[in-house]
Amino acid sequence: MRVCVVTAPTGDCPLNRQDPHAAEHTVRTRDAVLKSLEELGHDASVVEAGPAMLLEIETLGPDVILNLATGYRSKKDQANIAAILEMSGIPFTGASSHGHVVGLYKHVAKMAMEAAGIRTPPFQVVLGKEDLRRDLTRGLKLPAIVKPAAEGASLGITEESVVSTAEGAARVAARLIDEFGPPVLIEEFIPGREFTVALLGYPSLRALPVQEIIFKEGDLFSYKVKRLDSVTVKCPAEVPEDLARLLQDAAVRSAAAVGCRDFARVDIRLSDGGVPYVLEVNTLPGLIPDYSEYPRIAAKAGLTYTDIVKTLIQAAAERARSRELPGAPKADGAARGA
Ligand SMILES: Nc1ncnc2c1ncn2[C@@H]1O[C@H](COP(=O)(O)OP(=O)(O)O)[C@@H](O)[C@H]1O
Ligand SMILES: [Mg+2]
Repeated sequence: MRVCVVTAPTGDCPLNRQDPHAAEHTVRTRDAVLKSLEELGHDASVVEAGPAMLLEIETLGPDVILNLATGYRSKKDQANIAAILEMSGIPFTGASSHGHVVGLYKHVAKMAMEAAGIRTPPFQVVLGKEDLRRDLTRGLKLPAIVKPAAEGASLGITEESVVSTAEGAARVAARLIDEFGPPVLIEEFIPGREFTVALLGYPSLRALPVQEIIFKEGDLFSYKVKRLDSVTVKCPAEVPEDLARLLQDAAVRSAAAVGCRDFARVDIRLSDGGVPYVLEVNTLPGLIPDYSEYPRIAAKAGLTYTDIVKTLIQAAAERARSRELPGAPKADGAARGA
């Protein structure tokens, strides 16, 4: 099969200027995926996200697209890149643009989860500086955590993010608006154990073994803790089987509520009362070899990197096939001739 791998830019771009490790991570992921595609006998090409990508993809005319693009100007472009891939009409791996939008904006994801009956920490959202005059902790049990609503990698999360007064919440929220822009989330802080659940599969996602994040210090996966990797992970987590199933079920249902496809990773805190609260759904989990959680968890489940790539490609190929069934809408707008 002819596979076009779409990645974030590897050269100079706003995303790579913001995060000095981003380009290196993109290169490592791209090279690992290309190696797997070669192993699988596919004919691979690479296109970097940017203004020319649609034309480049149309010229190449691949059978499927493997979408690894985590951003262009910023991480928020994940959704825009998926939208451009939709315009190409060629099936691609992972969430649709809609799924990425919902997943990227945590308050929207939380509303989707609540509507589906999934527990997520109660929250307030700050849409702009004018909201700072409101009581941002109203209706919330304190302490609360104040975090950017549309970032990742724990950006903006420090020890100071956990506040126990409304004034504290407003102060941290004001700082986050200046640094990252709105929206900002004020969310009940859930003390207790932290887990992440990787999902893989099509047409519906299935959970891999639950992984626990065990903190060496404190109980916050802050930016610093993530950067220094100062946690240990345990996969499968040491939890009773029924709890593991509860966490996996919460993860699968949240990913479905957000609109994920093929793969995803869901972060969950378990309250001291034993109730799982879903924090967020990652619609494009990192696949950096020997670094990202996702391939590490997959390995624990006995899946190689190539197994992950194989499933993703099969998922997109399956969408290509089902589109060709009689009666299904054609990507090239076949109705035009009618
Ligand atoms: N409501 C919360 N209660 C407890 N800890 C939280 C809460 N929200 C975030 N955290 C902590 O901050 C980390 C990062 O938050 P998360 O919402 O997953 O954002 P990111 O997209 O940056 O990973 C979590 O892994 C967790 O340790
Ligand atoms: Mg997270």
